[in-house]
Amino acid sequence: MSLIKARNLSVKIGQKQILKRINLDVEEGTVTAFIGPSGSGKTTLLRTLNLLQEPSEGTIEVNGTKIEAGKIDKRQIEELRQNSAMVFQQFNLFKNMTALENVAAPLILNGQLPKKEARQLAREVLAEVGLEQVADQYPITLSGGQQQRVSIARAIAVKPKVILFDEPTSALDPELVGDVLQTIANLAKEHITMILVTHEMDFARQIADQAVFIEDGEIFDQGPASELLSGRGAGRISSFVNSLEKVAVEKIIGGI
Ligand SMILES: Nc1ncnc2c1ncn2[C@@H]1O[C@H](COP(=O)(O)OP(=O)(O)O)[C@@H](O)[C@H]1O
Ligand SMILES: [Mg+2]
Repeated sequence: MSLIKARNLSVKIGQKQILKRINLDVEEGTVTAFIGPSGSGKTTLLRTLNLLQEPSEGTIEVNGTKIEAGKIDKRQIEELRQNSAMVFQQFNLFKNMTALENVAAPLILNGQLPKKEARQLAREVLAEVGLEQVADQYPITLSGGQQQRVSIARAIAVKPKVILFDEPTSALDPELVGDVLQTIANLAKEHITMILVTHEMDFARQIADQAVFIEDGEIFDQGPASELLSGRGAGRISSFVNSLEKVAVEKIIGGI
């Protein structure tokens, strides 16, 4: 059974049609990679799956909670958000809270745990991502990679059914990317359901079960990541995948 099901999902902002009739299924325990050019609608689709963006048409189902465009109430939003956590490109940590407080905050705010237990769990989850040493530090004193791992810890602490990652490494210096990708790979090993927007093609090929290529607000194609992202053949997706590999190689050469 699909954990996430989107049917005919469209998003219109003002007069602009951003997403057009998206149909998507995500099976429990799998990793889905969203791939596509800048401005194609990947972030908007993730935000819509979490109802940070309201759809103009269609339905979303997450773990049995069904939501229909135009008929969304606050209780449904809360229910859906309890099932899905988001990790943003720019970390989005609270600057006035320590790493530990950042991880504990959602647990306390949504009444999942009393303060003391929330802090205890936050410490455990920070240890899981290798950050117990910095638990009492403020975000500004942490590297970008550490900040992103705090935000991953914050996402997993609430034990969501799915974690949505929006280009989690694109704001990081190259030498910090590896630790964050390793943290995400560890979650995949635990069969935590994830959707990941990424330009890291090697990583997507290794970690993702399914890949979804988005272009101009539409799903152009979807299928097994190993096939769709192979870069072989002369199609639209291969040419996109190969253009990214070229940039990656140029980055490395440029750094020598
Ligand atoms: N709040 C908004 N208002 C108007 N246009 C938006 C808004 N958010 C996104 N867009 C537009 O929607 C399109 C898709 O954006 P986005 O989902 O951020 O793409 P991607 O993540 O693939 O780069 C872009 O053309 C962008 O300018
Ligand atoms: Mg984006």
